[in-house]
Amino acid sequence: MKIGIACDHAGFTHKDNLKNYLIQKGYLVQDFGCFSEESVDYPDFAHELAKSVLKKKNDLGIQFCGTGNGINMSANKHKGIRSALCWNTHIAEQSRLHNNANILTMPARHLNWNEVKNIVDVFLKTKFEGGRHEIRVKKINIL
Ligand code: RB5
Repeated sequence: MKIGIACDHAGFTHKDNLKNYLIQKGYLVQDFGCFSEESVDYPDFAHELAKSVLKKKNDLGIQFCGTGNGINMSANKHKGIRSALCWNTHIAEQSRLHNNANILTMPARHLNWNEVKNIVDVFLKTKFEGGRHEIRVKKINIL
């Protein structure tokens, strides 16, 4: 499975730890940056990750900014991207089961590394339930 990852400066440390963690677990990882804690603009990274998921160059995406909100809003501007802001494992699980989320977004400044790992593990192992949720997910796009 191919996973794209992205962040802004606030999420750099978690993104870098995540990269090593995913590679160790056998995932192919494409890192869209950023690559240091120097201040950057989160949309620049969210848009590249989102495009790669839409083009099926990555199966799923994972991204961080400080609160998660800015980078999440940016990714969700792309038709077909369903980026879920998740701060615990239950929300992450539901985002896959019910919303077929294709990007996991986390608030880097509000989670420790152990929480990040647990959320990522749940997100990656959970499959979309389909059924009634399929009908709802199909209604998300308006354009
Ligand atoms: C950066 O300071 C911060 O604004 C950003 O990481 C994020 O929280 C925006 O939504």
